[in-house]
Amino acid sequence: MSDAADQIFAALRQSSQSGAPLYLQLRKSIEDAVNRGLIGPGDALPSERDIATKADISRVTVRKAVQDLVKGGILVQRHGSGTFVAPRMERVEQSLSRLTSFTEDMARRGMAVRSAWLDRGLYAPSPDEMMVLGLSSSELVARVARLRIANDTPLAIERASLSASVLPDPAGIGSSLYAALGQTGNRPVRAVQRISAANLGEGDARLLEVPPGIAGLHIERISYLASGKVIEFTRSIYRGDAYDFVAELRLTGPSEEGRP
Ligand code: GLP
Repeated sequence: MSDAADQIFAALRQSSQSGAPLYLQLRKSIEDAVNRGLIGPGDALPSERDIATKADISRVTVRKAVQDLVKGGILVQRHGSGTFVAPRMERVEQSLSRLTSFTEDMARRGMAVRSAWLDRGLYAPSPDEMMVLGLSSSELVARVARLRIANDTPLAIERASLSASVLPDPAGIGSSLYAALGQTGNRPVRAVQRISAANLGEGDARLLEVPPGIAGLHIERISYLASGKVIEFTRSIYRGDAYDFVAELRLTGPSEEGRP
């Protein structure tokens, strides 16, 4: 962390006359430093002990201020490696009229994309998967669950289910599910997508490096082959601060009015 940031904590020592509780003063100092660009996204905060010494306040006070800033999404804590200024999100604008894959969407924006595997394997299907994918209880479902990361920022958790007859080796898909499906002539040509608001639970929030309870988007995609067969049933959680979904709307002609 820069000398400039060190000065923030030292300055706090002199400025404790405002009467406001010390943890609020410290919280404000850190917030101001982030807003003024003195400390930037990804910068590590000094240890609790260092801040306490520099600002001449107790570690309990430091912890309270830091926890508040983590809850507010200004700082992130990574187990074992410390506290950092949260990455600033560049919002991704996503058209709702094109059937594209995550890899294609990010590549088009020049973003480096990678995934962390959460699960991949063949399982007995759940009732939902049986209904949507048209599977019987004796068939298997292939599940592919990934944390999708662009430019080192986790953007979404995607849990895809496909019939095991389409994807017999879920571990072998490489970096793009749609590319793997394309290789076997199973890339979907049409999809229905349902988007709803969701507050992120503890586990999902930890993976997405955002505070629990923050707003997110739940997206369900059911996609189809040209034959009309359902090929993919994917349930995803996207960060609410990262995505704008954009749809083009057209005035319908008189012949189409009143149609659902
Ligand atoms: C999007 C969709 C998912 C789809 C995925 C495929 O993110 N929401 O339903 O499974 O793209 O992406 P990729 O080919 O990069 O694995």
